[in-house]
Amino acid sequence: MPEIMIRAEKLRKKYGQIAALDGISLEVERGTIFGLLGPNGAGKTTAVKILTTLVRPDEGKVEVAGTDVVGDPVRARRLIGYVPQELTVDPYLTVREHLRYYADLYHLSPALKDSTIREVVALVALAGYEDRRVRHLSGGTKKKLDLACGLLHRPPVIILDEPSLGLDVQVRRDVWSYILRLKEQRTTVFLCTNYMDEAERLCDVVSIIDHGRIAVTGAPASLRSQLKGDVISLRIASSEDAQGGNLKTLEKSLSGLAIVQGTVRDGTELKIYVDSNEIALPQILQSTASLSIPIRSITYSRPGLDEVFLHYTGHPFAEEREKDG
Ligand SMILES: Nc1ncnc2c1ncn2[C@@H]1O[C@H](COP(=O)(O)OP(=O)(O)O)[C@@H](O)[C@H]1O
Ligand SMILES: [Mg+2]
Repeated sequence: MPEIMIRAEKLRKKYGQIAALDGISLEVERGTIFGLLGPNGAGKTTAVKILTTLVRPDEGKVEVAGTDVVGDPVRARRLIGYVPQELTVDPYLTVREHLRYYADLYHLSPALKDSTIREVVALVALAGYEDRRVRHLSGGTKKKLDLACGLLHRPPVIILDEPSLGLDVQVRRDVWSYILRLKEQRTTVFLCTNYMDEAERLCDVVSIIDHGRIAVTGAPASLRSQLKGDVISLRIASSEDAQGGNLKTLEKSLSGLAIVQGTVRDGTELKIYVDSNEIALPQILQSTASLSIPIRSITYSRPGLDEVFLHYTGHPFAEEREKDG
């Protein structure tokens, strides 16, 4: 029997009229990376704040390693490392001072303090930065410090809220490999993200969350493979397309084709959902030619997590992203 390290049952939380969480249930097995994947405002941070004892649910139950989070928050906090969405580091401390401060906060014994700090510094690749002041660090290095602080008491469960938000490509990769190293050490990771690629690359299991509800749960690969059909992505040159008129015209014309099941427009890209790309591609090319729409690129693929989201929520992920800027 796999050991369940996080169990949430029918969690509800309202802020005024908004149901931030509208009855979510989930289970996370020890040593796995679990992803809560959803757009801004879906309820991810609310779920994390309940798990970390910072917010009380209106209804429902949460257990971390068998400890009731609401009933015994002090014990629960010892089991959890938490790295919040926003940076919490103090600009005027050095990296080492910072880590020592957190080590004291977590009641690390003096004998263990320095060796543990060395360990986590190595784990997040911060060696060499120990004596720098936080305000002189880049955003990515600050994030690594944040991650290191969440790990100092070597908790069996670590909760990361959008760990690679706004980071550049190289730092994202560093953060990802650090998360995978945690898994190698049998740490249980609970990760909130609104990046499809992050969920795909890291998570053993994802729950897709939307408007406070879980739409579907499964391994990314199996969620994808359950969807039938192909996705054709067509990009047009943006300079040629004043106010997106070309793409709208094309979308309308393609929607009339029997082989097209649906379309989603995002900037200069049009996604076209079809039963089979072999049959659909020639017809799509014919439509673009007859409308004289210049294509920059056209690719096709099997459905990704974007399509899983669309399939189970009934609306595209990107739509939400645009709304939030
Ligand atoms: N403290 C709060 N007061 C009022 N509304 C809140 C508060 N926290 C979150 N919300 C609302 O709850 C919903 C879920 O928010 P959140 O959990 O932060 O989503 P996510 O982390 O997925 O972006 C949003 O509509 C948000 O505006
Ligand atoms: Mg959030």
